[in-house]
Amino acid sequence: MSEIIIQVNNVNKTYRGSYTPALRNFSIEVREGEIFGLLGPNGAGKSTLLNILSGLLTFDTGNISICGRNMPQQLNEIKPLIGVVPQEIALYPTLTAVENLKIFGGIYGIISKELKQRMDNLLNYFGLEQSKNRQIKTYSGGMKRRINLIAGLLHQPKVLFLDEPTVSVDVQSKTLILDNLKEINAQGTTIIYTSHFMEEAEMLCSRVAFMDEGKLLCKDTPQNLIQNTNCPNLESLYLKLTGKTLRD
Ligand SMILES: Nc1ncnc2c1ncn2[C@@H]1O[C@H](COP(=O)(O)OP(=O)(O)OP(=O)(O)O)[C@@H](O)[C@H]1O
Ligand SMILES: [Mg+2]
Repeated sequence: MSEIIIQVNNVNKTYRGSYTPALRNFSIEVREGEIFGLLGPNGAGKSTLLNILSGLLTFDTGNISICGRNMPQQLNEIKPLIGVVPQEIALYPTLTAVENLKIFGGIYGIISKELKQRMDNLLNYFGLEQSKNRQIKTYSGGMKRRINLIAGLLHQPKVLFLDEPTVSVDVQSKTLILDNLKEINAQGTTIIYTSHFMEEAEMLCSRVAFMDEGKLLCKDTPQNLIQNTNCPNLESLYLKLTGKTLRD
């Protein structure tokens, strides 16, 4: 079995001014080469966990290590190894795609010749070559998602954190994004991702974790979860685990 690349042990997080914890004694481990899915209703704590793993948010108690380095003590060593694609599009709308990517490249300290080559490859790969000199504000939702992904991939991270990469995109963009993620994973990048699309997670993920109200409910391969619970698919297991009450 491949090595553990992300270890999360008993992590707790309560936002300032909030009474209820966003994460409660949360533990998971992710192995090198996995596509690991974090699944759960609105407010379950998925983005909180991803933001903590990305070093964007602090946690209260517990232990986290990524690629053998401890959070938050060794965050500076962890940062070059991880790519982050947040739930909200994080781009400058009045700059072009290329101008945006140059800023990201600069943050990661990629030398300009290398940066140009990687940008060209990724723009091509994600079907944005023709639109690379347009302002981001003129992009469709699917194009914005794709360029956001490229920004997280420019420095060739070992681990990629993706928060709902296929939300509000059409079937064409979604298919391209998922195919490319599979390919990037096959080339050696471990992926942790969140989604509300159970069918997609079932198809894509080596393992998934269900969470609700900051707690881990269960984790395993989609096949084992389905088999062991006698559910026809992940969607019906999701409803069985989390019920039908609406979340805020
Ligand atoms: N900045 C914040 N300040 C206070 N509470 C927050 C903050 N961000 C999130 N929360 C709360 O923390 C909990 C977990 O939120 P989080 O965004 O992690 O959920 P999520 O699983 O990503 O949900 P969604 O599927 O809607 O994206 C929720 O109760 C949310 O209201
Ligand atoms: Mg979220």
